[in-house]
Amino acid sequence: MSEPEFRPGLADVPVAESAISFIDGKRARLEYRGIAVETLARESCFEETAWLLLQGDLPTQRQLAKFDDHLRHRRRIKYKLNDLIKCLPETGHPMDALQASVAAMGMFYPSRDVTNQQSNWDSVVRLVAKMPTVVAAFARLRHGDEAIPPRDDLDHAANFYYMLFEREPSPAIRKVLDACLILHAEHTMNASTFSGRVTGSTLANPYTVVSSAIGTLTGPLHGGANEEVLDMLEEIGSIDHVKPWLEHAVANKKKIMGFGHRVYKVKDPRATVLQELAENVFAETGRPKQYELAMELERVAAGILGPKGIYPNVDYYSGIVYKALGIPRDLFTPVFAIARVAGWLSHWLEQLKHNRIFRPEQIYVGKHDVAYVPLERRP
Ligand code: CMC
Repeated sequence: MSEPEFRPGLADVPVAESAISFIDGKRARLEYRGIAVETLARESCFEETAWLLLQGDLPTQRQLAKFDDHLRHRRRIKYKLNDLIKCLPETGHPMDALQASVAAMGMFYPSRDVTNQQSNWDSVVRLVAKMPTVVAAFARLRHGDEAIPPRDDLDHAANFYYMLFEREPSPAIRKVLDACLILHAEHTMNASTFSGRVTGSTLANPYTVVSSAIGTLTGPLHGGANEEVLDMLEEIGSIDHVKPWLEHAVANKKKIMGFGHRVYKVKDPRATVLQELAENVFAETGRPKQYELAMELERVAAGILGPKGIYPNVDYYSGIVYKALGIPRDLFTPVFAIARVAGWLSHWLEQLKHNRIFRPEQIYVGKHDVAYVPLERRP
């Protein structure tokens, strides 16, 4: 039998059959359960989109009301978890705090039997409901402020904003934050989803599944990119520096953060709809200077990187929007995580339906039959 072909990064290698989402990278099309993501971002809300991803169809009015009610009533975290978050170093990254807290959360709800569908669903609701509370709690406790308890009368996006800032968002801000959660909720077999599926395939508990996915999301090539986009725009500084900066970066083979995607070879459709909704916020806050700079970089890059199929992805603009909302930079990736948990858990439930533990092959390139030399005979 011939050696299987090695595909670095598993590029183009299917690792699962999935009915959750679909990308056509040439037509800028992303669908959740067959529905275009732009439609969901404009018309739906995060709660409904999460149900759609998790359950497979849009909820009925009754199903949505019940799901929404369950989410609202499971937002609070145990006081011991709050104490644990308080003890985490304030200099640590909020993604690490989130990963540690989600792993710890599993200790409070020690349901190890993943064949129990009711307990699995309870864990799903708990994780989706509580992750924003954990992120907001760390964001406040690290500065010595008390965590703000969740409010049951606010929806998912508005409550998260409230727990961060102790004030309700304006309708335009609520809408764009909700849309950001929808746009980040799912994205086929990306690195963190794969990581969660691998962990889930061992029949590990869902808190461990989500904490491993959170860990994978932290890297700058994945969820961490939106933080780096702002650093990059700060480095460029002004519109007249855009072209020389880009030419220099490309000549030096530097990666342009927020550009490029394994699947999209055109502009990411999520970036387009995010820009559209962000204009309503900018009408209130004014267009940030960095947004003007980013649009100019996109324009210039279209001529230089466009021919290679490298265009802005969603995280090119999401950081600028979060900054306009007053969200601290190191919370950008946690916001991604509180959205993507819906996708991770949809994949976990799907994985469990036809589970087989992931155990891929490697191509061994090391030595054979090496003699053991006792320590005293080694230099
Ligand atoms: N800037 C400049 N050149 C790029 C970029 C970029 N952002 N992305 C890819 N390229 C070039 C790369 O240098 C390579 O060129 P060559 O063939 O001449 O060596 C070619 O395109 C293929 O790049 P790759 O890194 O092999 O592509 P990949 O599919 O392995 O990586 C990616 C995809 C998203 C990791 C990569 O495009 C990247 O590093 N982008 C910047 C980080 C970023 O924005 N990440 C967020 C991704 S979207 C949100 C998410 O899903 O997490």
